[in-house]
Amino acid sequence: MCGIVACRGREHASDFLLAALRRLEYRGYDSAGIAVTGTDRDDLRATRAVGRVAALEARIALERPAPGLGIGIGHTRWATHGGVSEPNAHPHRDCNGAIAVVHNGIIDNAAELEAELRGRGHVFTSQVDSEVIAHLVEELYAETGSLAAATVRVVGRLRGTWALAVTAASAAEVVLASHRSPLVVGSGPDAHFAASDITALAGTVGSVCVLRDDDIVVLGDQVTWLDPMGREVPPRESVRLQWAAEDIEQGAYDDFMEKEIAEQPSVVGRLLERLLPEVLDGALWTQLDLPRPSRLRFVACGTSLHASQVVARTFGALAGVPAETVVASEYDELAASGPDEGLLTIAVSQSGETSDVLHALEDVGGPVLAITNRPHSSLARRSHAVLETSAGPEIGVAATKTFTTQVVAGAALALSFAAVTKSLGTTAVARHALRLGSLPGRLESAHTTAFPVAMALAEELAESRTFFFVSRGGGLPYAAEGALKLKEITYRNAEAIPAGEFKHGPIALIEKGTPVLVLENGDAARLAGSVAELASRGARIIRIGSGSEDTFPILSGPAPAWGPLESVLAFQHLARCLAVTLGRDADKPRNLAKSVTVL
Ligand code: AGP
Repeated sequence: MCGIVACRGREHASDFLLAALRRLEYRGYDSAGIAVTGTDRDDLRATRAVGRVAALEARIALERPAPGLGIGIGHTRWATHGGVSEPNAHPHRDCNGAIAVVHNGIIDNAAELEAELRGRGHVFTSQVDSEVIAHLVEELYAETGSLAAATVRVVGRLRGTWALAVTAASAAEVVLASHRSPLVVGSGPDAHFAASDITALAGTVGSVCVLRDDDIVVLGDQVTWLDPMGREVPPRESVRLQWAAEDIEQGAYDDFMEKEIAEQPSVVGRLLERLLPEVLDGALWTQLDLPRPSRLRFVACGTSLHASQVVARTFGALAGVPAETVVASEYDELAASGPDEGLLTIAVSQSGETSDVLHALEDVGGPVLAITNRPHSSLARRSHAVLETSAGPEIGVAATKTFTTQVVAGAALALSFAAVTKSLGTTAVARHALRLGSLPGRLESAHTTAFPVAMALAEELAESRTFFFVSRGGGLPYAAEGALKLKEITYRNAEAIPAGEFKHGPIALIEKGTPVLVLENGDAARLAGSVAELASRGARIIRIGSGSEDTFPILSGPAPAWGPLESVLAFQHLARCLAVTLGRDADKPRNLAKSVTVL
């Protein structure tokens, strides 16, 4: 969704801004723009374009602007208020075109502010709530003569959420403000930078400071931090950026999804190197410093919800803790569910910025544990403890390695909890840990086996409009994840159904050749009856299992507590190969954004 970048002090601000905006493309957007200050300090040039950053670049190349002062702001917009159009794209400017603003979030009182500003003669050129900020800054900058002081007073008038960057023709600085929307700042040898997502700054700065709610930061000759009253305060603690520039390069792969699928064995290997030594003695759990829960409630969306379902089952199986899973956007339905003593809420989100999850947490009174790939995200800051999944940057919109690492981190935590509570004996804990430790090898071999099978199937199934994913018990969240992956990047209908449920209605949909993916979880014999019913009605049965006769023979040994994790390699490869065969953009599926920051 929307992204912000800013810089102060680079000779050609637009070079940095465009490169940084390209790094944010993965988030999903429909228009882009930048504003840079010109050479004579009276000049502020804004360029916007509907479509990809490439369209913006082409327009800038056509205009051939003179090199500026190195001060600028940029934005990728994912439309919420107002349609997709150039006037609605950011940056927004004041009446004189001398102040430029980029904004992520929603200004709840925009209508009343706009009416007030129109009453004082301001002219609006967009349907976007963010434009009020530019006009408010216009008034208060004229009054105070300081862009920072003006911004402090403007944010005092806003209700809603914002990450914003403001610059002006006559001010050699960029002012940033944040309230419930992420922003980070970092410095290189000759310039200061800001972005709403650290991916934009990987390789440019070595460390960043994360703005907290209501911080104001001025990028001038120095970086100055202000409190909501405009008083200078010490900077926030700086955190080292773990992602290098090459981590966000596509390399030799055809798309990021292919790269990220392939990375799973190594990413899981590194994660287990960190977590496994702390599982046997329970340190992984105790270090989180959380009260011991009597029950768990997982809150998440989409793929993270499926990972939560796996981890909830694993906690139940290994530690005997009752665990439920709640769709984050439905959380308010639980409001009257009674007292929460002994409850630990576990919020699972790769981005840590999903609005549905953050919104759900507003109703949570007790402790919250975040399982996330972004240890400095809004979710992490609002949680009492964080378990980092260390998947590295994931650029493809379809979650792949972040799912796998959520499952592995969650399973390691459940095992560690079982060790602490002694719900499992030492030998059993060691046995499960050994099985966890074998995952990188198992995932590698599943990857190698699944890829060619998926390629051949994609050719065969290119015309199929509907796919079913069938499993039982611990295999069901994986079947659901397989169906989600397929529908989000191929735009084909896909549904996950418990094997025994088919005969209660869905079997009416089976025609000759309907693809049904059957995932076993050490229960092939129990699945056999349902499979026979489907096959006899003409279904094209595709098996993911442990037998040599299976289409994807990628499982082996007894089913572990966390279920058939290796199956995701079959599902991810199939979804991607089918998307490629159908000519879809596997990395940027239509209508979707990497991080869903609207309710
Ligand atoms: C995954 O492939 C999807 N793009 C989507 O369902 C995603 O998992 C969901 O939006 C939750 O995102 P989060 O993990 O960042 O909270």
